[in-house]
Amino acid sequence: MTNGRLAALEGKAVVYEDTGMQKYVLNTMDDPLVAARESTANMLQTREHTFSLPQPFYNDARLFAIDMQEVFEKEWLFAGMTCEIPTKGNFMTLDIGDNPVVIVRGGEGTIHAFHNVCRHRGSRLCVKDKGKVAKLVCPYHQWTYELDGRLLFAGSDMGTDFNLDQFGLKPVSVCTAGGFIFINLSDNPPPWMTFWKRLSTISSPTRWTTSRSPPSPVSSSKPTGSWSSKITASAITATARTLSC
Ligand code: FES
Repeated sequence: MTNGRLAALEGKAVVYEDTGMQKYVLNTMDDPLVAARESTANMLQTREHTFSLPQPFYNDARLFAIDMQEVFEKEWLFAGMTCEIPTKGNFMTLDIGDNPVVIVRGGEGTIHAFHNVCRHRGSRLCVKDKGKVAKLVCPYHQWTYELDGRLLFAGSDMGTDFNLDQFGLKPVSVCTAGGFIFINLSDNPPPWMTFWKRLSTISSPTRWTTSRSPPSPVSSSKPTGSWSSKITASAITATARTLSC
């Protein structure tokens, strides 16, 4: 029996966690998008290639949900620039669909990404777009996490058997290259280097420096300095040396 269930039975605060039963139920429930997936595949196979995509690709909520599942929750995503969180404790938040994420710079310059969800009762942990903190402290009941996600403090209500080590923040895969931060929400992300090599091929420094509309960071604040100089600084040869994972 999990700590969370024990706590519930004993009238203590219930811990927010994934249980084996939850996973079992989720895995065995029918996928409500099965029909939409088949229709989508059919529309893609039969569409006129010289025409725009069929209307549902633009306005059907089911196709949006499939996009979220098949692209945004599986692929590497550009999340921001390392210069947006320049020193230890700087963080920024973003939402990928319904998935809140916090990216924080920890000790020795390491960049971490977590689901921005407290392991206690699921409160959003960091509520601002950006900031600087010594620790990640939940605003609800003040559970306190180290910048690397370890749970440091959970109050006294959890009982003496409560194991802090089991309730760190849920990590999100993160890689940085050339000043860019990429995250991946999947439990089994595709190989980072495969993605990065492909991106490097299509986004050579020459192309980006001549582009009028370089990619914007997901977060609301822009880094200081010109985009062209930042993009130039991420020349592929230099990038190879700055890969952090
Ligand atoms: S929800 Fe209770 S401390 Fe975060």
